[in-house]
Amino acid sequence: MQSDGSPTVVAICGSLRDASKTRIALREVLDAASDAGAETELIDLREYDLPVFDADDRDAGDAPDLKRTVERADAVVFGTPNYHGSFSAPLKNALDYCGRDELAGSTVGLLEVAGGDYPKSAMMHLRTVARTLNAWTLPLEVGIPAAYDTVGDDGIEDPDIESRVRELGAQLVDYAGVDAYPEVAGTPAEAPLADDD
Ligand SMILES: Cc1cc2nc3c(=O)[nH]c(=O)nc-3n(C[C@H](O)[C@H](O)[C@H](O)COP(=O)(O)O)c2cc1C
Repeated sequence: MQSDGSPTVVAICGSLRDASKTRIALREVLDAASDAGAETELIDLREYDLPVFDADDRDAGDAPDLKRTVERADAVVFGTPNYHGSFSAPLKNALDYCGRDELAGSTVGLLEVAGGDYPKSAMMHLRTVARTLNAWTLPLEVGIPAAYDTVGDDGIEDPDIESRVRELGAQLVDYAGVDAYPEVAGTPAEAPLADDD
């Protein structure tokens, strides 16, 4: 959290394409998070020198910068194009440099952009990665289908999708720091049981 209590929300974009629809959608997520009071940052992997991950060289290139930025975030959104039914290699590479030190306890939002219909599988795979790293994934996941029709050069053109994307940004702020919630939520669990419980 910032000293004024506002959360930091970071987006990692898994597409390296200059005209990436994923990046356009992530900017909308961050814009909504900013409107909800967060400090935001887009991790544009085109700007990072990240060699293909080698477990013998975990601090290669700009990996320390990447890890610092992810570690200091209260909430992170993983955005990926659907490549052959899964998430992209640049995002996998970036996530392999990170681990529980960076992501345990973080709130994670998932967004997938596909050329076809019903994008879902890449987010399922990302959810598994996030949970393996003990991050908290938001139930709201945003899959953007038919990206060439629904996302233009200047933003999302389908109002329903735009509203879902912005809701993801707002929820990343609402649930940033969710790791602390079990203590906050302790009271109901301590309430006396009813006779028939
Ligand atoms: C290598 C590759 C594999 C792809 N595989 C799929 C796929 O399995 N299903 C699908 O719906 N779209 C697929 N697409 C289309 C992309 O998901 C779509 O173009 C998306 O908008 C790319 O994201 P970007 O604009 O952020 O780069 C594929 C694209 C590429 C380049």
